[in-house]
Amino acid sequence: MLDKRIKPGFIVKYLDQYVIGQDEAKKIMAVAVYSHYRKIERSRRDAVEIAKSNVLLIGPSGTGKTLLCETLSRILGVPFVTADATSLAQTRYVNEEIEAIMQRLLDKAGGNLERAQLGIVFIDEIDKLKAGAGEPRSVSGESVQHALLKIMEGSQVKLPGGQYIDTAQLLFICGGAFVGLQEIMAGSQTYGYISASAADNQGILDRLNDRVKPTDLFQFGLIPEFTGRLPIIARFRELSRDMLARILVEPRNCLYNQFSEIFKSEGVELSITSKVFEQIADIAIEYQIGARALRGIFEELITPILFVIPDDPAIRKVEIDSLFTEPRFTRQG
Ligand SMILES: Nc1ncnc2c1ncn2[C@@H]1O[C@H](COP(=O)(O)OP(=O)(O)O)[C@@H](O)[C@H]1O
Ligand SMILES: [Mg+2]
Repeated sequence: MLDKRIKPGFIVKYLDQYVIGQDEAKKIMAVAVYSHYRKIERSRRDAVEIAKSNVLLIGPSGTGKTLLCETLSRILGVPFVTADATSLAQTRYVNEEIEAIMQRLLDKAGGNLERAQLGIVFIDEIDKLKAGAGEPRSVSGESVQHALLKIMEGSQVKLPGGQYIDTAQLLFICGGAFVGLQEIMAGSQTYGYISASAADNQGILDRLNDRVKPTDLFQFGLIPEFTGRLPIIARFRELSRDMLARILVEPRNCLYNQFSEIFKSEGVELSITSKVFEQIADIAIEYQIGARALRGIFEELITPILFVIPDDPAIRKVEIDSLFTEPRFTRQG
């Protein structure tokens, strides 16, 4: 089913080309999808039912949760759709919304039902389904959790076209920022795991103390059955200044490469010092929306230059040394 080359190590290497940092989450996700598709292979061979392990991604906004899932689906070559839990909670017709999501999955699979049934469904903002947070005239977050639970456990969903899609083998990935969870965890871990001897590995203890427990998620407002369906938890970390700067230049489709291409098509070389990327990262940190802030800041720097270049064909090179000094233009001749 999966290409023979696709093993967890291979998946992580591929992810590294697009997603900066989040090493722990990459490993957890790589193993989760690998074992998911191995389980399906086995279930087909031995005609047994699979015990599916869906995944919960917890981490601040703009740290790469959606990006990682998209990149994963690309390497696996399986259809992938994203849905937003907030909009599920705002409609009175949850089941129709769910049908529409499944229809999109089928469309992504080019209408091939069998392929669609092996896809990945990413449901973002799952933390907004907290019990008791519902709005008037809409279904409560809790009832949306029940509706999602049904498809996560495996059911036949009728599509608008009249076909049925079986959700039993779909991999569900839920994501959310879970603001406030850290405090709940701190409360539930007053005693924590304490080092019994100097020989204990502090790294392992820190990791244990940093684990999200199902009880923390109940306390947050997810129903027990729902958390029970999300046994694998990957945490995404706040991106450091250094990581934000790397995101501008390292990924294969990074902003710097994208704009370099545009300049190149105008016959202009774009040269930006690393100091500029650090300055952009510093501003991005202040915006507190993770890497999502980078594009706007970068475009603000580049737009005035892109404005003059087409009208001045003699320009061959643009050098930017700092966000706070004028760029230098080198002209032909
Ligand atoms: N770890 C990362 N590595 C590379 N780019 C990132 C990373 N995190 C975020 N980005 C950039 O920011 C954008 C928004 O990130 P996204 O994955 O949607 O965040 P989240 O889903 O965690 O809120 C992405 O499209 C990508 O350009
Ligand atoms: Mg997202």
